Amino acid sequence: MNVPAAQTITVALGQRSYPVWIGAGLLADHARWRAMLRGRHALVVSNTTVAPLYLPRIERGLAGLHWSSFLLDDGEAHKTFANVGRALEALGQLGATRDACVIALGGGVVGDLAGFSAACWMRGIDFIQMPTTLLAMVDSSVGGKTGVNLPVGKNLAGAFHQPRAVLADIDTLASLPGREYRAGLAEVIKGAAIGDEPFFAWLERHADALAVRDPAAVLEAIARKVQYKAGVVARDETEQGERALLNFGHTFGHALETAGHYTTLLHGEGVAVGMLLAARLSERLDMSEAAATARLQRLLEAVGLPVAIPSGMDPQQLLALMRLDKKNAAGMLRLILWRGIGRAEIVGGVDEAAVLAVLQAAG
Ligand code: NAD
Ligand code: GLY
Repeated sequence: MNVPAAQTITVALGQRSYPVWIGAGLLADHARWRAMLRGRHALVVSNTTVAPLYLPRIERGLAGLHWSSFLLDDGEAHKTFANVGRALEALGQLGATRDACVIALGGGVVGDLAGFSAACWMRGIDFIQMPTTLLAMVDSSVGGKTGVNLPVGKNLAGAFHQPRAVLADIDTLASLPGREYRAGLAEVIKGAAIGDEPFFAWLERHADALAVRDPAAVLEAIARKVQYKAGVVARDETEQGERALLNFGHTFGHALETAGHYTTLLHGEGVAVGMLLAARLSERLDMSEAAATARLQRLLEAVGLPVAIPSGMDPQQLLALMRLDKKNAAGMLRLILWRGIGRAEIVGGVDEAAVLAVLQAAG
């Protein structure tokens, strides 16, 4: 099989700029990532599923350093303050100094917690993201949002803390369960739907190749999504404006995830259905055409993502959940809608009756 050449995308943030490397065999390319470590201490944060599979690939690259690993149990439930405390304890045990580095080896749960731990230790040390899920490669490892969940809600404690490098080894996707892989594709499609029509058309042409994880198509899709996100982050690092567009489909999606008690839908699946609902709402509000909605639905279906609200969910309850979204202002719904493919925008004061009608029609 042809192994596509690795790509490098830069997140341009002045002195805090960093590379995102995407390619095959990168974990074992020790010289590449080891050059990013400034000191003599490293803590690898991973989990009990990923570490047995991929920690051996980086171990030899850590030779000569004082390093140890901190492994989370698998699952979103472990993205907690208590585990940040344990990661900081592990840094303490290591005698980690200001020039130490935290290495996040895993999906978004590991990356968010490891990044937040790095942000806290001595008020901020380096960290390197080594994402092993498609979602983490195209979304969570890039852009510096780190954090943990609190009993009152997801991702409510955190910090903006940019990594020093991101190393996305696409070989790791071979062991990723199909549902997790497809959930990552939803975040790829989202980037194209928000702001990159040519990329959306490319995804339509390569949907079959992506569905079977063709390495060249996967690498190209990751690189184009990361390129798009890197641009957004460079222009609006702390989400004062444009970065909010990355939440396309998320207000509907979060409501669906919550109504399903986080067991019915994965986050990316909620985003897939949520994007379609946002497209239908845009159509109802005369912002976009039915043809754009149809293209989005066809692409989601082509890669095997869900496009319907799971049975048994109550539209009134979903609307109530949407009212709790962080983006809302002055008691009014504020949503990311679109004017067609590649043209998303933030819309405030959205008519609740129209939202309810879209939810009822999709039930
Ligand atoms: P995850 O980290 O829970 O990983 C999904 C599952 O895949 C887990 O069971 C994990 O152990 C397993 N896994 C990981 N890599 C594997 C591999 N290569 N082979 C086999 N199994 C593997 O979930 P995720 O979807 O990667 O990330 C979701 C998290 O990311 C959420 O906590 C979400 O809040 C966060 N997130 C953060 C941002 C951000 O900007 N920081 C953006 C999006 C999502
Ligand atoms: N996942 C949304 C963001 O990084 O802003």
